[in-house]
Amino acid sequence: MATTKQVALITGAYKGIGLEIGRQLGQLGIIVLLGARSLSKAEAAATLLREEQIEAHGIELDITNPDHIQAAVRRLETEFGKLDILINNAGVYTDHLGTPVEAVRASFEVNLFGPLALTDALLPLLKASPAGRIVNQSSILGSLGTLLTNPMYGVRSVPAYTSSKAALNAWTVQLSIALRDTTIKVNACHPGWVKTDMGGADAPMEIHEGAESAVWLATLPQDGPTGGFFHKRELLPW
Ligand SMILES: NC(=O)c1ccc[n+]([C@@H]2O[C@H](COP(=O)([O-])OP(=O)(O)OC[C@H]3O[C@@H](n4cnc5c(N)ncnc54)[C@H](OP(=O)(O)O)[C@@H]3O)[C@@H](O)[C@H]2O)c1
Repeated sequence: MATTKQVALITGAYKGIGLEIGRQLGQLGIIVLLGARSLSKAEAAATLLREEQIEAHGIELDITNPDHIQAAVRRLETEFGKLDILINNAGVYTDHLGTPVEAVRASFEVNLFGPLALTDALLPLLKASPAGRIVNQSSILGSLGTLLTNPMYGVRSVPAYTSSKAALNAWTVQLSIALRDTTIKVNACHPGWVKTDMGGADAPMEIHEGAESAVWLATLPQDGPTGGFFHKRELLPW
């Protein structure tokens, strides 16, 4: 039977910013599905949130695996009949791996093709929601305007990460235009430099703060923005 509660799917959500997005959405009374490549890690994370009185479920979801994507679609159809919020949070930083071409390919697989394939498969369920929200977890390093003008970011040579997040941003714009006659909003955000396995111990932001931009975009009212790139509710340059 379809639920009256909102349902959110978050990718890469057994740890880091993704898990915290699940926690913060769950605290708002939203049912959260925590996606992870490893089912046992997804279920352990869901158990942790259930101990905090959050309605959480683990789901095996490697976003580069078409079988996992199809299984996720079937599960959402069967158990909930809709999807209100999709957070494309899973991401990789591959610049240190292999040749430059291998690094860029590996990065695009997860940072662009995965979100694209998953979102495309879930669009019918998002359209079944009265107010679908798609949030793409990008990075300030995907902002071409920032790379060109801010030496703090522009000096780092990480072409795989920057180009894949810039491509994610471009697709965010395209999808928002394609969906502008629907109630679905599509936005990208930069979480900040956050203390996670990816961000490292020197990052200035705690994880709870790093989740806030995505949670805000996931819960936008109907007169909220679409087709934007945000950090802490402020527009960022593309
Ligand atoms: N931390 C920062 O300072 C920062 C700054 C800007 C943007 N971001 C973005 O924020 C997002 C979350 O990063 P984080 O800092 O929380 O890093 P994290 O703790 O390393 O989390 C990344 C998550 O993505 C998952 N993942 C990787 N490949 C996947 C795949 N094929 N399918 C499904 N999940 C996959 C990882 O799972 P496994 O452990 O199984 O690989 C992990 O759960 C990323 O998109 C990142 O680019 C982070």
